[in-house]
Amino acid sequence: MDISIIGSGYVGLVTGACFADVGHNVICVDNDARKIEILQAGRVPIYEPGLEEIIHRNVSAHRLRFSGSIREGVENSQIVFIAVPTPQQPNGDVDLSFIEKVSREIAGILTDYRVIVDKSTVPVKTGERVAESIKRYNRHGAKFDVVSTPEFLREGCAVGDLMHPERIVIGAQSEHAIDLMKKVYEPFMAPILVTDINSAELIKHAANSFLALKISYVNALAGICEASGADVEKVADGIGMDRRIGREFLNAGIGYGGSCFPKDVAAFIAISEQLGVPFSLLKEVQRINASQKDRFLKLIRETLWVLREKKIAVWGLTFKPDTDDIRSSVAIDLVADMLREGAQVTVYDPKGMDKAREVKAIAATNFAGSAVEAVIGAEALVIATEWSEFANIDLSVVKEKMTTPIIFDGRNLFNPETMGQLGFHYYSIGRGSVTPH
Ligand SMILES: NC(=O)c1ccc[n+]([C@@H]2O[C@H](COP(=O)([O-])OP(=O)(O)OC[C@H]3O[C@@H](n4cnc5c(N)ncnc54)[C@H](O)[C@@H]3O)[C@@H](O)[C@H]2O)c1
Repeated sequence: MDISIIGSGYVGLVTGACFADVGHNVICVDNDARKIEILQAGRVPIYEPGLEEIIHRNVSAHRLRFSGSIREGVENSQIVFIAVPTPQQPNGDVDLSFIEKVSREIAGILTDYRVIVDKSTVPVKTGERVAESIKRYNRHGAKFDVVSTPEFLREGCAVGDLMHPERIVIGAQSEHAIDLMKKVYEPFMAPILVTDINSAELIKHAANSFLALKISYVNALAGICEASGADVEKVADGIGMDRRIGREFLNAGIGYGGSCFPKDVAAFIAISEQLGVPFSLLKEVQRINASQKDRFLKLIRETLWVLREKKIAVWGLTFKPDTDDIRSSVAIDLVADMLREGAQVTVYDPKGMDKAREVKAIAATNFAGSAVEAVIGAEALVIATEWSEFANIDLSVVKEKMTTPIIFDGRNLFNPETMGQLGFHYYSIGRGSVTPH
């Protein structure tokens, strides 16, 4: 199939590369000229494991190319995917102006039938608005169908998720569009669920909100474990062994962040209110999530007494491991909070340093060249992202380099018992604290 993807970011670029890898001809379009220049020069503007290799392979095979022109994309493809941002507005609503602008532009170019597929995460009923908009600006009266295929990839393992999806949701009205979409997804051999457009759009918000709810559920449990002396990991194991519940996403920590969960939960709350059926449970999910970081900061403050002039090392800046994405990262907020209280913060992240250097709120931090360099002279180490590089580090070296061996583990990366044996004062989430044995 000939496919174009408008918006070549974390979703569009990886989707385009994977579509090309199964044999489709793909044009990835973006209006960020710098991004297109980087891609055309054979480099990759984001870090995603396996992505560079797959892009190079498909560019060499002439199945994947990059363009700054929506016209070039639309004219050379049967199916046009939209994967532009849908950021959160201050009131929680989704900013749909990117989608609206692209819809208008596509409409102005259409001369023949095209399937316009929304892959961005949007509130229910957006497909209807996209169709209206295309109809309004469709000067040549070309036929078109609008389809919704929400994306479920996880950054950090996006290539694997796209090549082996658990399910493909196709929201469409027209049989012809459904047939074409099935051809696009046939090579991935995944179960396909065909729905109406509204249901497809709702599935994405409902799925992400449920995952956020699971995280907040275990984080609330962590608080109860701390107050009662129970161990949240054992509790999560015990409830997770029930297949109806499942162990995944039951890891206590300092809360979810990233470019999806916070905005998608806020958007789902906003659309439910607009529809007159407020989903107030999700407000509690948000409240618990925000309180996790605050509780963690309180623990650090209470343990170190005052943060002013304290040398604190922070491992991890990205919102999760195996990505360079720092959007709405709790780690960044935590660093900003500690700097505000006068701490001298030194940070290290395997992939997020370049993007973090551009964040004004943490400009006063020191950027270390390695995890070990970050802890030299530190009076405490804060673990904010669960990179395996940190899990595999030689902790005896870390202890030797620190001035006082205190660790606040916001991601429960280590075993408390072992940390006590190694001589650390070790604090984690929902598992009590450990002093050197
Ligand atoms: N990142 C994820 O893990 C993930 C997962 C599932 C769904 N989503 C959803 O997918 C959508 C895109 O997310 P993302 O993380 O890829 O965002 P992103 O910011 O990484 O990428 C979006 C790209 O669209 C480009 N763009 C903006 N306006 C454009 C225009 N008018 N013409 C051409 N290109 C334009 C931007 O330059 C950018 O490169 C969002 O709705 C998001 O909620 C994201």
